Amino acid sequence: MGTTHLASCSKSFMDTRRPRRVREILCAETFLRFRTTRDASSPTVFHEIFLFNAGAGTGNFAGKMNVFENREKILRVCGLCVDFSSRGRTAHVVRDVSFELARGEILAIVGESGSGKTVSSQALAGLLPDAPACAVRGEIFLRGRQILGLRERDLRKIRGREIAYVFQDPQSSLNPVYTVGAQIEEAICTHVPELKTARSRRERVGELLREVGIAPELADAFPHEFSGGMQQRAMIAMALAGEPEILVADEPTTALDVTTQRQIMDLLLALRERRSMSVILITHNFGLVAQIADRVCVLFRGEKVEEGATCDVIENPRHEYTRALLACVPRLRTE
Ligand SMILES: Nc1ncnc2c1ncn2[C@@H]1O[C@H](COP(=O)(O)OP(=O)(O)OP(=O)(O)O)[C@@H](O)[C@H]1O
Ligand SMILES: [Mg+2]
Repeated sequence: MGTTHLASCSKSFMDTRRPRRVREILCAETFLRFRTTRDASSPTVFHEIFLFNAGAGTGNFAGKMNVFENREKILRVCGLCVDFSSRGRTAHVVRDVSFELARGEILAIVGESGSGKTVSSQALAGLLPDAPACAVRGEIFLRGRQILGLRERDLRKIRGREIAYVFQDPQSSLNPVYTVGAQIEEAICTHVPELKTARSRRERVGELLREVGIAPELADAFPHEFSGGMQQRAMIAMALAGEPEILVADEPTTALDVTTQRQIMDLLLALRERRSMSVILITHNFGLVAQIADRVCVLFRGEKVEEGATCDVIENPRHEYTRALLACVPRLRTE
C-alpha cells in the first residue's frame, strides 16, 4: 500500500463535512489497518491522526449526504415477517421489518448474530425454505411490482438478474472441485443464456474477473488457490454475471484482515459508481458502515429498531442497542 493511498484514506476522516463520530470511527479503522501493514510508521497518517485528536475537525456537518431521499425506490419492503416452524414450535425470527432502497444507494443492514439479517435479505428473492417449514408475510415491491408469493419460475427470473447475492462465507459457497472460471461461467449460462458460445462466455468470465480486480488468467485456478479476499472477489464476479440491479452482500468481509476489508468495500463502491447498482450490505461492523453506507437499518432480535442516514445514526443513535453496537468500534480518543 503506497503513501498516495494512505493520504486518500486519511482524507475520509479529515473531511469535516462528516460528523465527528463518523470521522472518529473512520480514523480508528484506518489506524487499525495501518498497524497491520508495513506502512504503520507512515508519517502522513500519524500526523493526520494527531491533528484529528488535537481537534482539527469542526464537528459540524453541513450536508446530510443523503442524496437518495428523492430518488426512485427500486425496492420497498413493508411489514416483512418470517416464521420458522419445527415440531409444532414456531420461531418468529423477523418481525414487521420495513425498509426501502433507492437506485444506486448502499443500505447497510446491521445487527448482532441471529438478529435476522440474512433471513430478511434472503426473503427478498424467495431463498428461504418452503412452507410449512417457513412462512413469509408482508409485502416486497421490486420496482413497484409485488414479488412476495411469486411462483418459483418467476422468482428464478429475478434471482441473479435483478437481485443477486454474495452469500456469507465464500469458502463454503464456492465449489472446491471446479475452477473459479468454470463457476463464473455457470452463473453466466444461468443468467445470460444469450451468450451461446463457450468462447463468448469465457471472454465474459475474463471481463468479470477484471472488473473485480482479478487477473483473467486466474480463471483456471481452483478456489483453494485463492486468498480469502480473492475468493470474495470471485463471489462478487459470479453475482455480477446477471447484471443485477441490486447486489446483496452478506457479511462480505468476515474473516478478512482490515486491509482486505477496505479493498472489498472500495470494490463495492466502485461497482455502485460504475453500474448505478444498489447494494444491501449486511454486517455487524459499524466501521464498514461508516465507510460506505448511505443509510443504515439496525435489526435487533428480528425487529428493526432504528433506521436513518448513516451519519445521523452514528452521530445520534436513538436506540440503546445501536449505541451498544457503536461502542464496539475501537476509539482512539481517550477523553
Ligand atoms: N432454516 C432455518 N430454520 C430455522 N431457523 C432458522 C433458519 N435460518 C435461520 N434461522 C434462525 O433465524 C434467526 C436469524 O438468523 P439469521 O441467519 O438471519 O441471523 P443473522 O443476523 O444473519 O446472523 P449472523 O450474523 O450470525 O449471520 C436465527 O435465530 C436462526 O437460528
Ligand atoms: Mg447472517
